[in-house]
Amino acid sequence: MVGQSLAEELTREALSQPRIVPAGPPLGMLAELTHRCPLQCPYCSNPIKLHKAADELTTEEWLRVFDEAAGLGVLQVHLSGGEPTLRPDLEAFVARLAGHGVYSNLITAGVNLTRDRVFALRDGGLDHLQLSVQSVREEMAETIGHYKGALAKKRLLTEWVREAGLPLTINAPVHRHNIEETADVIQFALDVGAERIEIANTQYYGWAAINKAALMPSYEAVIRQAGIVTEARARLKGILNIDYVTPDYYARYPKPCMGGWAKDALNVTPSGRVLPCHAAESLTDMRFETVREMPLEQIWYASESFNRFRSTDWMREPCQSCERKLVDYGGCRCQAFALTGDSRAADPACILSPHHTSMKDTADDLSAKQPPEFQYRRIGRG
Ligand code: SF4
Ligand code: FES
Repeated sequence: MVGQSLAEELTREALSQPRIVPAGPPLGMLAELTHRCPLQCPYCSNPIKLHKAADELTTEEWLRVFDEAAGLGVLQVHLSGGEPTLRPDLEAFVARLAGHGVYSNLITAGVNLTRDRVFALRDGGLDHLQLSVQSVREEMAETIGHYKGALAKKRLLTEWVREAGLPLTINAPVHRHNIEETADVIQFALDVGAERIEIANTQYYGWAAINKAALMPSYEAVIRQAGIVTEARARLKGILNIDYVTPDYYARYPKPCMGGWAKDALNVTPSGRVLPCHAAESLTDMRFETVREMPLEQIWYASESFNRFRSTDWMREPCQSCERKLVDYGGCRCQAFALTGDSRAADPACILSPHHTSMKDTADDLSAKQPPEFQYRRIGRG
């Protein structure tokens, strides 16, 4: 494998530092090609300080990043944003990944793709398309995405995707304004011939954090939703794969965010900053390197930021002595930092965290109130 000796050297270097454990190669990469987007969803996971178009990696720089990722062992790349189709060089990226045998997934809002481009991407080697759906009611879809006619364009796109023979996933972000649509969005996924749907309760990073009061669903609505998902999973087994991201604010234990910090995936921002998760720039006490400063491999194996929360030595109590510490790795570092000010703390989604009760109380309190207006993310529409 390209760079194998550098990887070994960097692993040796990392092991020579205290409290650092060896990492395997990353398997997946999220490439945020741009933060520009025609939609302005109020739960967007992009940072509040969006990366400007002028700072975006050039075509040549992204191609080098994909070469380095393939050399490092990455097996699949999610081409995301913002809206990745605003990059005119998207086809070149897909072709380069296909040339390396890397699986490519296009994550799109789907409002500015044409039929010709769908077929060109397929012919260039695109493996999969994931389409976000804000609501299955046109008016609500327009309110959430702040974009007229979005749902009709998305329906049209699904027809082209099926015609092109590409596998399709529907991504349905959920909050108080659409949580009662869960059965309808599952039916939408069936109607458009999707193989998979991701029903993802909002996670409160980035723009979702400042819109928390407008987005938080009630506990009762979440319980109804869970029942609908459980029933649909049993009924549609073998027909539609339903992934379900449960809401942290009503959880008893946290999710193993990213499957563990810097365990098998990385994220590259539009300006080339390399992060262990999409929200890591919210950890304002940390510095993350860019692909303009050093090779991806060096960042993955030897950077302080990628090594900081590997293994379990960094954990405080109650995680340090907890039998679940290798199950959830203490939960989400970004959520812990946002809600406690300490990135080493247990994720407050955990019932053993001293902040758990206040997290649940916040959710109950916000969901009981009249929701405020959305604060839409603002950036040029490309
Ligand atoms: Fe997970 Fe820490 Fe809670 Fe244990 S105490 S369940 S490791 S978050
Ligand atoms: Fe950053 Fe969970 S989103 S660790």
